[in-house]
Amino acid sequence: MEITPQETGKFGAIVTGFDAATATAEELQRIKDAVYADRIVLLKDQALDTGGFVGLGRALGEVETYYEPMYHHPEHAEVFVSSNVPQDGQQVGVPKTGKFWHADYMFMPRPFGLTLIYPQQVPEKNRGTYFIDMSEAYERLPEHLKLAVKDTYCLHSPRKYFKIRPSDVYRPIGEIYEEIELKTPPAKHPTVFEHPVTGRPVLYASAGLTYAIEDADGNDLGDLLEQLFEATGQTDMTFPEDVVHLQTFERGDLLVWDNRALIHRALHTTTPEPAVSFRVTVHDDHPFYAQADA
Ligand SMILES: [Fe+2]
Repeated sequence: MEITPQETGKFGAIVTGFDAATATAEELQRIKDAVYADRIVLLKDQALDTGGFVGLGRALGEVETYYEPMYHHPEHAEVFVSSNVPQDGQQVGVPKTGKFWHADYMFMPRPFGLTLIYPQQVPEKNRGTYFIDMSEAYERLPEHLKLAVKDTYCLHSPRKYFKIRPSDVYRPIGEIYEEIELKTPPAKHPTVFEHPVTGRPVLYASAGLTYAIEDADGNDLGDLLEQLFEATGQTDMTFPEDVVHLQTFERGDLLVWDNRALIHRALHTTTPEPAVSFRVTVHDDHPFYAQADA
């Protein structure tokens, strides 16, 4: 197994010669180390079946099954399916997922450290995912914003991008809102936390899921959140290359990324092509951040 830096882009590593079926504990540890050091790892030439993909997730830690069953793979609930390709006339998983800046599960009390994506059907033209490194984004903040976020907390909710389910048709929208608040009440996390492995500060705020920022006493800090989105490049729809990393992939690639340090966003396309992607999410051996109970 060989790990080399990615040729293009600002971060990421490429792993060749990795076989999930025969991987040793040492190889799995090297992959995790590369994920923390390089934020994104591309495992090349993977040919896993769905069970094998779940198995790789289990080999890396504790697999988290998505809370909304609509996204589940019909045979493997641990696999989150993003798909715009019907199978035998049936929708499997959910189309057009994640077209907004977010980190996975940031609206939950205990988010996970690793996201694994295994594209199954890769679009010809518009392939890829945008990423922003929120440790680097924090470092780039002007001093007055670094000071302003000190000892503050952000509130996160899926409410803005919650996808209406087939079973929601004819339901009053207020009832659906109530259900969202009951199932996923606002999750409060420090605006800046220390990455448990790299020790670097992470600015944990995304335009898609973060809706408020408060001081330690719970006072709302108003437009500070908008200032953070702007300062970190989340409001710039030109996706400037010096801030936003576009990670492309091809068939056989399996991506593993650091879901603490990175926020991501599906590539926006005006002409959607057939695309199917499987996702497995994993709690690693570390608390999400030092202050977390879990
Ligand atoms: Fe995501």
